[in-house]
Amino acid sequence: MSICTARMDCLLLPVMISQQSIQQILNRIDIIEILGEFIKLKKRGTNYLGLCPFHNEKSPSFTVSPAKEIYKCFGCGKSGNTIGFLMEHEKISYVEALRWLAAKYHVELEETEVSPEVKAIQQVADSLYIVNSFAQKYFSKALLETEHGMDIGLSYLKQRGFQEEIIRKFQLGFSPEEKNAFAREAIANQFNPELLLKSGLVVSRYDEYLDNYRGRIIFPIHNNTGKVSGFGARIIKTNDKAPKYINTPENEIYVKSRILYGSYFARQAIDKNDECLLVEGYTDVISLHQAGIENVVASGGTSLTQDQLRLVKKYTSNLTIIYDGDTAGVKAALRGLDMALEEGLNVKLVLIPDKEDPDSYVNKVGAAAFRDFVAVNKKDFILFQLEVSLKDAGADSSRKAAIVNQIAETISRINKTEDFTKQQDYIRRCSEIMKIEETGLNALVNKFIRERVAKSAQGSFKEPFTVQEATDQMPPETGEDADMLLLLFKDEMQERAVVKALIEFGVKEWNEEKKVADYFFEEMIEEDLFDNKQLYDLILMYKKWYDEGIEPTPRNFLYHEDQQVSRLSVSIMDFPYELSFKWKEEYEMPVATREDMYKEEIISTLGYLKLRKIKRMIAQNQQDLEKETIAEKQLVLIQTHQHLKQLERELLKQAGTVIMR
Ligand code: GTP
Ligand code: MN
Repeated sequence: MSICTARMDCLLLPVMISQQSIQQILNRIDIIEILGEFIKLKKRGTNYLGLCPFHNEKSPSFTVSPAKEIYKCFGCGKSGNTIGFLMEHEKISYVEALRWLAAKYHVELEETEVSPEVKAIQQVADSLYIVNSFAQKYFSKALLETEHGMDIGLSYLKQRGFQEEIIRKFQLGFSPEEKNAFAREAIANQFNPELLLKSGLVVSRYDEYLDNYRGRIIFPIHNNTGKVSGFGARIIKTNDKAPKYINTPENEIYVKSRILYGSYFARQAIDKNDECLLVEGYTDVISLHQAGIENVVASGGTSLTQDQLRLVKKYTSNLTIIYDGDTAGVKAALRGLDMALEEGLNVKLVLIPDKEDPDSYVNKVGAAAFRDFVAVNKKDFILFQLEVSLKDAGADSSRKAAIVNQIAETISRINKTEDFTKQQDYIRRCSEIMKIEETGLNALVNKFIRERVAKSAQGSFKEPFTVQEATDQMPPETGEDADMLLLLFKDEMQERAVVKALIEFGVKEWNEEKKVADYFFEEMIEEDLFDNKQLYDLILMYKKWYDEGIEPTPRNFLYHEDQQVSRLSVSIMDFPYELSFKWKEEYEMPVATREDMYKEEIISTLGYLKLRKIKRMIAQNQQDLEKETIAEKQLVLIQTHQHLKQLERELLKQAGTVIMR
C-alpha cells in the first residue's frame, strides 16, 4: 500500500472508540443540557421549546422532549437525538461528537486497537496540527504585534479593505522577510525539523532550515472542526519570479482535493441559507464574509473534486458558483459539472463582470448591491452551458446536433431516483430552448443512461455506482402509486410497532424465568414478516447484542454510530401510539397500548404481524383458486384456505384473551 492510499484510508477509517466508553457517554447525555448550550430553551409542559437553529424563524417551533431524548422542529421538520444534533449543528462526525461529549462529561475515551500503520499516521497528523497551530499564532502575532508586520502586512491588508475584526476571525498572519525567523523560533520550541519540513513551513537548503514563506500574507486553512490543516501564503510585493501563492504541500492532514477554503466559517450560514456560494480565492471568501455574506467557500481556482462536492452536499443541495466572467476558472468549474449533477447538486452560475472578482466587486458596489447582482444574474448551469454553446454554434446544423447530444449526456447524469422530476424538467426546458421535440430528447437521454448501465455492467470500474442508480430509476408517481405508498406506509407502522416494543421492553421481565426479549426470540420472528428489511435488521442487531450479554436500551439504537440506524430508531421511538387504535377498527382486534401492559403490547404487535402474513396468504390463495381449473388442485387450495382460516382464528383468539384476561 502506498503512503497516499494508507493516508486516505486513515482519514476515512472510523476511529474505534471502545463500546464501554460509548456506553459511559450515552449514560450521561442530557439532551436539554447539551442542546441548551446552543439554543435558548424554555420549558413548556413536559417539553422544551426554542428557536430552531436550522432555519430562520421568529416564533419558536423547535421542540425537545427530554423523555424521548429527541428533538423535532415543527417548522422545518428536522429531528434527531443529541448526537445527531451535534453532528448537524456543528457539522462534525459521529466520532467527533462523541469526543465533544466525552470532554464535556469528563469521560476518558478508550480507543480500541488500531493497526500500527494507522496509529503512526494518526500521530503524525496530531503533530502536524500542533505545529500548524503554533505557526498560526506565530504569524498572527507577527502581523498584528510586530512593527515589521504592521508596516508591511497589516497596512497591505487594510489598504485592500480588510478590517481588523475579519483579519482576526480568519486568523490571518504575516511571515517576516527574514530567511529563518520562523524556523529558529520553531526549533527553539522543540519542534522536530522533520515535522517542520513535512508541514511545508520550513525547507532545507544547504544544511540550513529556512522559512518557506517570507514576506507573505498567511491564510490559515481550517478543516471542518476549525483546526489549521495548512496555509496559503500570498506574496505582498509583486515579483515576476515568485509565485503569487504558495500552499502547504500534500501531507497527512492537508489533502487538497478534500479542502474547501472557508468551510469551517461558512457551514452554519450554508445550512441556514440552504445554499453554498463557491468562489475562487481566499480573498473572495474573506471579503464576502466582511460584507455579511457568510455562506461562501473557495475552491482555490481548480476544478472541483468529488470529495469537495460531497462536502458541499453534506450541507446543502444548492451550489452557486460565483466566478469572474473571463476566467479559465469557469471552464475548470464546468469540468466538475457532471460530477456535481451525479452528486445531486443543483448548480447555478453567476459571472462577475468587467474583470472584477467577487472580492473587488463587493468592495466596489457594497454588500446590498452584490446580493442583488447575484440574485438577478443567477443562471441555471445546465441551461447556461446550453445557451453558450448554441450561441457559439450559430446556424451550423452539425454543431447543433453535437450540442443536442452533449446536453442529453449531461442530463442523463441526473440519474438519482430522487431527482427524476428534475431530469424531466430539464428535458422539457432544454428541448424548448433548442426547439426540438421533447420526446426525442427524452429518448436520447434514456439512451445515454442505458449505455452507461451496460458499460458498467460489463465490469467497468470507472463508474461503480451507476448500475444501481440507473436501474433504480422510478417512474413518476401516479395517483395509483401514491395510494400504494400510503398502503405500504400504513403497513410499515405495524412493523415499526413490533421493533419499538422490543427495543422499549426487551429487558423487562416476561416471567420468573425469562425476559421479554427471550420470549420475543422464541416466537420465530422471521424476515418474511417484514416488508422493510431495515426494521428487521434492527431486530437482528438487538439479538446480536442480547446474545453477547449486552442488554440493549433505546439509547443503543438512538445513538447508534450508523446514522441510518440512528435516524430510523428516532423515527420509531417517535411513533405515535394513537395509530395502533386504527388496527383495532380494521382487524377487529383488541390492542394494548399502555406502557404497564407491555407484555400485552408484545403479544398483540407480534400477533398482528403474523396475522397480516396469514391474511396475505389467504388473499394469495384466493387468487390462485380463482384461476385454477383442475379439480384436484382446487381441492388442495380449498384445504389450504381452511387451514389458514383456522390459524387466523387462533391468532385473533390469542390476542383477544390477552386483553380480556
Ligand atoms: P488576490 O489577487 O490577492 O485578490 O487573490 P485571489 O485570491 O483573488 O487570487 P486569484 O484570483 O489570482 O486566484 C484565485 C485562487 O487561486 C487563489 O486564492 C489561490 O488559491 C489560487 N492561486 C492563485 N495563484 C496561485 C499560485 O500562484 N499558486 C497557487 N498554488 N495557487 C494560486
Ligand atoms: Mn482577487
